[in-house]
Parts: sequence; structure tokens; C-alpha cells
Amino acid sequence: MKIAVLHGQMHRGSTYHLTHSVLDRLGGEGAEIREFFMPRDTPGYCVGCYKCFMEGEMKCPHSDAVQPIVAALEEADVIILDSPCYVFGMTGQLKTTLDHVGYLWMSHRPSATMFRKVGLVISTAAGAGASKVTKDLRTQLFFWGVPVIHRWSVKVAAFNWQSVKPETIQRIERKASKLAKQIRKEVNSARPGFKTRMIFRIMRLSQKGNKWNPLDREHWVREGWMDSERPW
Ligand SMILES: Cc1cc2nc3c(=O)[nH]c(=O)nc-3n(C[C@H](O)[C@H](O)[C@H](O)COP(=O)(O)O)c2cc1C
Repeated sequence: MKIAVLHGQMHRGSTYHLTHSVLDRLGGEGAEIREFFMPRDTPGYCVGCYKCFMEGEMKCPHSDAVQPIVAALEEADVIILDSPCYVFGMTGQLKTTLDHVGYLWMSHRPSATMFRKVGLVISTAAGAGASKVTKDLRTQLFFWGVPVIHRWSVKVAAFNWQSVKPETIQRIERKASKLAKQIRKEVNSARPGFKTRMIFRIMRLSQKGNKWNPLDREHWVREGWMDSERPW
């Protein structure tokens, strides 16, 4: 099983430990885990040049940093995005990375590889806001076409992992076991449900009349999606 992880932080705090509680259970023989840490692996801020959308992702001034991440995401069976909650949102460095892959949204040039993967989005907060973060992270995966997405948010009531209460850690361990078991079952069998298929259909219709971005349209034509081919 191949797993790609985008960590919204560099430090090994509560969020990192939640992610690793699942990775420890999914790992083992045959598991290949690629981890990217933000901001170490974050590209520079998106400059809004639209080159990725209009001329191709290789024309992005930060493609050297972005494309290794995209390659790992495309190869993975499981994609994990995690971030601590910072003022009711994901970390700025993770958002910066995600801005660079807007061209992969279904409204543009989704990767056919995405439609059979399992996603997991994770966040922790001291008090409130982690569930808002996982909602936003799920939106990203959904619009890339990832068909099965698990959300896991935890109010840890702590500023660091060392001060998380033992009973909260036990609860985290139990949830991690459940998630890992579920994900193992879903890998290789995940397929889009009604909502993804419906959005794909709407995007396909919009590509029919697309005169504003030939690159996007060519992608849909080349993949055969304007005919009867589907990426699942
Ligand atoms: C800049 C910053 C903003 C934060 N904003 C929130 C917040 O909006 N809500 C909250 O409950 N906790 C907030 N926290 C606390 C962290 O979300 C919380 O301690 C989290 O578990 C830290 O995860 P980590 O150990 O992986 O860094 C914030 C912390 C920082 C550093």
C-alpha cells in the first residue's frame, strides 16, 4: 500500500501523533510512505499568474517544488492531509501548497488516478475549530476526485502532545485502530458515489462549451471523458 502524507506542520505535535497512530497501523511490510512537511516542502506563495491553469502545471514558477508532491499523490493508494487548527483554519503553509494544485480540481484537469483512492483528513485543536479544518481539507480531496474521505478531528485540550491527557490518548488509539481497519478494507475497492459522479457530470457538461481554457478541454477530450470513458 502506498501512502502520501501532507503534514501542515513540521513539528511532531498532537496532529502529527494522530496521523502516525494511523500510519503505524497501516504500515508494515509492503507499505510505502511518503511524507511532506510544511513549510519545509511548501512551494513559494502562489503568485496568481494562472500559468498552471492556462499553460500547464510545468509553467508554474514553483513547479520544481509542486510536482514531486503531485507525483507522490498520484502514486498513492491513500492520501492523508493533516493540519493543526490555526485560528479556525488550516495552517497557511498547507493552504499555500494546496493553492498550487487548484489545476487538479474537477473543474479543470483532474488526474484520473484520484478517483480510486482513499483519503483521510486530520486536525487537532485545543478547543474549537478542528472540525472546520477537516471540512476544508475534505473539500480539497473531494474536488480532486477522491471518492472515499474520512474526517478525524480531535479537541485535545492541550497546546502540545506532552500535555494531552492519557484518557484522550487512549481514545485516539482506539479511533486510529478503527480507521486503519476501515481504510485497509477500502483500498483497491474505493469508487465514487453519487455526489462525485454528479459533479463530474456537471464539469463534463461545462467542458462541452469550454471556450475559455483549451488546455482543460483538451485534457477531458484526451482522457476520453467527453465520450464514454470514466476515470473510475
Ligand atoms: C497560531 C495558532 C492558532 C491557534 N488557533 C486555535 C483555534 O482557533 N482554536 C483552537 O481550539 N486552538 C487553536 N490553537 C491551538 C492548537 O490548534 C492546538 O493546540 C493543536 O492541538 C496543536 O496541534 P499540534 O500539536 O499538532 O501543533 C492555535 C495554536 C496556534 C499556534
